[in-house]
Parts: sequence; structure tokens; C-alpha cells
Amino acid sequence: MAIKHFLQFRDFTRDEFDHLFARTRWIKNQFKSYQKYWPLNDRTLVMIFEKASTRTRLSFEAGVQQLGGAAIYLNTRDSQLGRGEPVEDAAQVISRMSDIVMIRTFEQAIIERFAANSRVPVINGLTNEYHPCQILADIYTYIEQRGDIQGKTVAWVGDANNMCNTWLQAAEVLDFKVHVSTPPGYGINQELVGKIDPAHCQVFADPMAACRGADLVTTDVWTSMGYEAENEARMKAFADWCVDAEMMAAANPQALFMHCLPAHRGEEVTAEVIDGPQSVVWDEAENRLHVQKALMEFLLLGRVQG
Ligand code: CP
Ligand code: NVA
Repeated sequence: MAIKHFLQFRDFTRDEFDHLFARTRWIKNQFKSYQKYWPLNDRTLVMIFEKASTRTRLSFEAGVQQLGGAAIYLNTRDSQLGRGEPVEDAAQVISRMSDIVMIRTFEQAIIERFAANSRVPVINGLTNEYHPCQILADIYTYIEQRGDIQGKTVAWVGDANNMCNTWLQAAEVLDFKVHVSTPPGYGINQELVGKIDPAHCQVFADPMAACRGADLVTTDVWTSMGYEAENEARMKAFADWCVDAEMMAAANPQALFMHCLPAHRGEEVTAEVIDGPQSVVWDEAENRLHVQKALMEFLLLGRVQG
């Protein structure tokens, strides 16, 4: 049987996401009521980081341990990955010594090549193109707070980066709409995203217009990891794409604000918004832990019922 990986959001069906969300709820409840749940006893997760992380490392490492397993952390600097060992060779070796692998790296092609040579499931912990674990947590958080996301509108304000690309895939799989507003020159990568379906994506020049009627307003840093050389130009280009109280007021009164973090107050979002009553950023961060436990359970044990 083919090994299942989670390399981009569209790797899973709507039905599989419904299963993951139900399992997340159950696993979170067990954890909150101090019930031991160790289905991954004796399983080992290898985490490979080629970029910095706080939340992703913490949530995967704590998550697998809380499920009874163990985690091993590798980074480019201290491993042969940083000295030019082919990713195919690394995949062969690492996947013979572990049960599941999570990778944070640069090009999506790197993780695809790793997965093609892996004996065990591989999870995308962020690439230049996608961040599927974060969107899994974001959508779980939306459902937890407001119910089904189907038919709802998400406003994406800022850079059309890995987060935006993943929101667009999620909109197709789970049937909701994304309003995207980016500064000129920083728009959606058509080659990557493909044909834009107007039922799931609408592009706005004006960020305020994108927020109008939205059920969720979300943004991210103006300069993602790996693009630091463009920082100065981006600071100027993105100045009007700061989510502020006025944008939140244009959204639905029940609208939530999300940010995957880390955030820069005064750049992509004002302190008033991120620290305000519509913001759910701390639940969003915590839910990384719970959704990824459900994800690892699913990839290793299939559809556990409970
Ligand atoms: N949101 C997110 O992935 O955070 P880290 O970069 O800290 O892992
Ligand atoms: N878009 C950001 C997300 C960080 C979690 C980046 O890739 O740096």
C-alpha cells in the first residue's frame, strides 16, 4: 500500500479532514482532562529543520511525546544535510530509523524528493510554497469558535506567501472563499496556484474591500524566511497592508482575526487588533499541538475511532 504523506493541503480529502477534526476534538479533550493516551508508544518522529521555528518544533516534539512516542531534532547546521548529502540518500537513511518524519525546508521540491525516497510518512512543517499544518490548526480553530467553515469568507491581507497558497488549496478542498489583497508585484503565484476559481478566490486591489463581509481576517509577516534580502523593499510596498481596527470593522461583526505567528505589531497588524477581542491567535497556536497529534495518529494508525 502507498505511504500517505501530508506535503500540501490538497493531499487529503474533505472526508479525511472531517475525520482529523473529530479526532483533534477527542485528543484535545483527553489531554485537557489529564487522560493518558499513548497510541504512539515506541514510535519515533524525526524533525528536520532547515529554517528557524518555535511553534512547529514545540508542538511536534511535545505532541509525539504526549502520545507516548519520541522525537529527534535534526537541523541543517549540525547534520550532513548542510554539507551536501543528497536529500534522496538522507531520506533512505532517516526513514529506516524512524516511523514518521516532519520537515521544514525551502523549496517544496526538496520535501517531494524526500517523500519519494522515504519508507515512512512525511509531514510538511513549512516550505517556501506551503504551510499545511498551520492551516489545519487555523481551520480547526475557526470550527471550534464558529462552526463549519464551508461557505464562509476568509480575507487574506498581505503577502501571497506559503500561508496564502495553503489557504487557497484549503478553500478548494473545504469549499469556502478567500479574498486576497496584496500590494502590486506581490500577488498570487499563478504558476503554482493554477487557474483561480471565482467560487473559491477573489482578488482585491484594496485590502479594505477584501475585508468587507469576511468571517475571518488573517495575515502574516511581510517578509517570510528565506526572503530577508527583500526586506527593505517589502517594508515600503506593504505599508498599506496592515490589518487595523478599520479593516476589522469592515468585516462581519462576528469575524475572527488570525495570524500564524511570529507577528510584528505595527507592521502587518496593529497591536489593537492582534491583542484585541476578535483575535484568537493563542488558541490558534495551541491548536497546532492538537491537530498535529491527530495528524500523526492518522498517518501512523489510520482511522482510529473513539
Ligand atoms: N507558525 C509557525 O509555524 O511558527 P514557528 O515558525 O515558530 O514554527
Ligand atoms: N510565512 C512565514 C511563516 C512563518 C511561520 C514564513 O515562511 O517565514
